[in-house]
Amino acid sequence: MNYFCRINRIKEGNDFEKKHTPFIECPDIVKSEEYFEVKISPGIPHPMEDSHFIQWIELFMGDIYLARVDFTQFMKPEVKLMVKAPSEGHEKFTLKALMRCNLHGVWEYIKEIKLE
Ligand SMILES: [Fe+2]
Repeated sequence: MNYFCRINRIKEGNDFEKKHTPFIECPDIVKSEEYFEVKISPGIPHPMEDSHFIQWIELFMGDIYLARVDFTQFMKPEVKLMVKAPSEGHEKFTLKALMRCNLHGVWEYIKEIKLE
């Protein structure tokens, strides 16, 4: 299987998939235009070695780029970011996290959030 020819998503829920999925933890409901904390990390710790490691994590709101964090093999691939909720007029929005492993490609996770 070539993980580099597509964006990968969790399907079977096995340990390999959990290790590569950038799970998003944040409130399910947030207030418009207020900052809230978003934590992104793999469900199971991924190796961080010279030959196999997580290179970066990116965060998007819908398809709008928000942030990117690059890692070396000396880091734990886990980030906490403060994100500003969209203005009123939306009922809900999505956050999308991408995470890249140097051997196993880019993995995506999407979470839907309601606006209060
Ligand atoms: Fe990997």
